[in-house]
Amino acid sequence: MLVAEELRQLLEPAQLAGLDVTWIPATAPTPKGEWVALVPLLTRWVGGTEFKHLPKLRIVANVAVGYDNVDLVAAEMRTVIVTNTPDVLTEATADLTWALILACARRLVEGVDLVRSGAWAGWHPEQLLGMELRGRTLGLFGAGRIGQAVGRRALAFGMRIVYTARTAKPEFERETGAVRVDRSRLFAESDVLSLHAPSTPDTKGVIGPETLARLKRGAILINTSRGDLVREESLAAALEAGTLGAAGLDVYMEEPAVHPRLLAAPRTVLLPHIGSATVETRRKMAAIALANVQSVLSGGPPLTPVYSLVP
Ligand code: GLV
Repeated sequence: MLVAEELRQLLEPAQLAGLDVTWIPATAPTPKGEWVALVPLLTRWVGGTEFKHLPKLRIVANVAVGYDNVDLVAAEMRTVIVTNTPDVLTEATADLTWALILACARRLVEGVDLVRSGAWAGWHPEQLLGMELRGRTLGLFGAGRIGQAVGRRALAFGMRIVYTARTAKPEFERETGAVRVDRSRLFAESDVLSLHAPSTPDTKGVIGPETLARLKRGAILINTSRGDLVREESLAAALEAGTLGAAGLDVYMEEPAVHPRLLAAPRTVLLPHIGSATVETRRKMAAIALANVQSVLSGGPPLTPVYSLVP
């Protein structure tokens, strides 16, 4: 099997027991050969060419909850199982989302820069005034596992929650008082709009000039999902114009590149795709990927498949 080299330190020998592993670094192209399993990072595209070059492949165990780096149509046509790593990263990613919300609302980066610059002249009643979260509305674009975990944390900050989702989440609503709305209400009512949807044809570019124009003046946009939900140039323009209050981003269109206009824009908190980056979570993600491979290669079902193969 082919396993991303970068996972080596996160795995225990027992998790690799009985497996014949070839390690591939993220920078190397996917090789051709007789491998039966592939454990890629989310940075590796696995599409038609890769499936053609791996004729014996039975499973792609993606080390991420998102799987937009895998061509599912090509995989399904070849009856290759695809798995992801749900659940284990929910809380870590929700925590990081809140780190971004708080950093944006309370202007953390500007504060750190001011102190480091040596230009801080002391306490001033109007210095770096931010947004008080209590009483404000958190809008969740997507309320799956991560969106809901972000919403549950909002209770402690006294925020009201609105959300969009393909299906209603009655338990989440009971627990948090969240209200399901349509997209236009979500955009119009959110003081903090946080994106928690996968990248699909329906969500790609959803945050563009039209949606940004519908947001409240001074609203905060947070994205810990996938970069291509946001049109970065339009986002930069909204920040430059001051219509958007701040943007906290962990993901980008063309990672690791960040749009130069966004890099230069004011009021941004830009992180390097570290939503799930805790020791515990990254170990669990690697473990689940390997457990999926172990199960499938020993004739069992995948533990966390992203679709079910019809036999
Ligand atoms: C990370 O972005 C993931 O999808 O797990």
